[in-house]
Order: sequence, then C-alpha cells, then structure tokens
Amino acid sequence: MIRVGIIGGSGLDDTDILEKCKKIEADTPYGPPSSDIMTGLINDTQVLILARHGRKHQYSPTQVNNRANIYALKQAGATHILATTACGSLRQEIDRGHFVILDQFIDFTRFRKNTFTDSFEQGVVHTAMAHPFDESLRNVLYRSATELGLKVHGKGCVVTIEGPRFSTVAESNMFRLWGADVINMSTAPEAMLANEAGIPYAAVAMATDYDCWKQDEAPVTWDEILSVFNKNADNVKQLFIKTVSEITTMA
Ligand code: ADE
Repeated sequence: MIRVGIIGGSGLDDTDILEKCKKIEADTPYGPPSSDIMTGLINDTQVLILARHGRKHQYSPTQVNNRANIYALKQAGATHILATTACGSLRQEIDRGHFVILDQFIDFTRFRKNTFTDSFEQGVVHTAMAHPFDESLRNVLYRSATELGLKVHGKGCVVTIEGPRFSTVAESNMFRLWGADVINMSTAPEAMLANEAGIPYAAVAMATDYDCWKQDEAPVTWDEILSVFNKNADNVKQLFIKTVSEITTMA
C-alpha cells in the first residue's frame, strides 16, 4: 500500500490538508523525531506528515534529528518521501516564489549525523549517491506544479550549509561557481538518510530570497524568508495535494 511521508520545512508543515487526521507518537533508536507524525488521508491516499523543525520550530538546522525523522517515517510505513524546503536562489532566473525540483545536492554541512551505519562491524555500507532524488517522484512533482500553473524549474542543485548563520558574499559567489542553483540548511543529510533507508525521496525547494550574492539587493533576512513563505504557502499545499493523488495513480 502507498503511504506518502511528507517532511515539511519552515512554514510548510501544515496538517490541515489531511482528512481523518490522527497523531502517531513515534520514538526511534536514534531518539524522538522532530515532531509527532500526523497521519491521515489526501484523496484516499495515506499520508504521514512530520515537521522538520518541530511544531514550534524549536530545532535549529544542526539540531534536527534527521536519522530519527527518516527512521520514524520508515517505521510508520512510508513508501515514498516528499520534502519541502525554503531556499535562497543563486540564479537570476529563479525568482522569489518559484519552485525547484531538486536533482542534485552539494553537502556543505559539518556537524550532522548523516548515516545509519556508524560502524562497519555488521558489514561494510557505502551507499550510492550519484542521483539522490527519485526520478519518478521528481517527474510527478514537476508535472503537478506545471498543471497548477506554478513557476517551476525542472531541476536544480542545492548546496546545504550548516547554518544557522547565512552565507558570506564570498561563500555565496563560491557556491554559484561550484554550480549550485539554490541554497538551504536541510536537504543534503535528509536525502542521504532516505537513500540509506531505501525510501524513494524527492524535494521541492521554494525560493524565498537571493541569498547575498546579488549586488543590487540587500542580503537575505529571516523575516524576508518568512514573509515570502507565508505568501506562497497555499501553492505548496496545492502542489502536495495534487502530487499525492498522482503518486497513487502512478503505482
Ligand atoms: N533558506 C532560505 N533561504 C536561505 C539562504 N539564503 N541560505 C540558507 N538557507 C536558506
């Protein structure tokens, strides 16, 4: 049976899209996940929603227990994971409110637990990561976004930084030279762990700012991110409702 896990980022963890909503109190060998899992239906498909930063946004990017989050979703039977994230744009053509269906990441985090395999005593594990985002899920997200008339970019490379600080201008320019299209503080470790857990994973990033590389704009602030987010939150909800329904027909 299809069961779609949704990991909601800042402002994108609303559970009012679920019918017959129930709470699952999850615990894992890695500790508790960031939030309870809310389970319910979207158009008859089972969905599990987890708030990446906690329901009160109490966990900083470094504190988010990605291992517990992915493990808890697997335990709850997630067959697919869709993640949302706010991001800064590193390209002129990716404007505020645009969506990017990520196809690659660059990991610039430093202090995260990013594997379930801390020791090789039970066997050697080197997970393939050449293509960390599931192609079929990416296609469904792209098609759904296009049909909804959203401004969407079919691919893009995210660089995930440790945070919680934003980047310097030098870093922002370096990430552009490296080929990153957008920047955030969450995706890379989460994608790695979903791949290790063998759960097809895709992430849609919503651009909220131009980070700080653009000389004709003031550098990003948290207030700016929240305000762009709130304006576009409904688009994210619609995108998920449509995508979840499409995943069911795809199976
Ligand atoms: N999330 C949203 N905008 C961001 C930025 N500019 N840098 C890092 N994370 C972000």
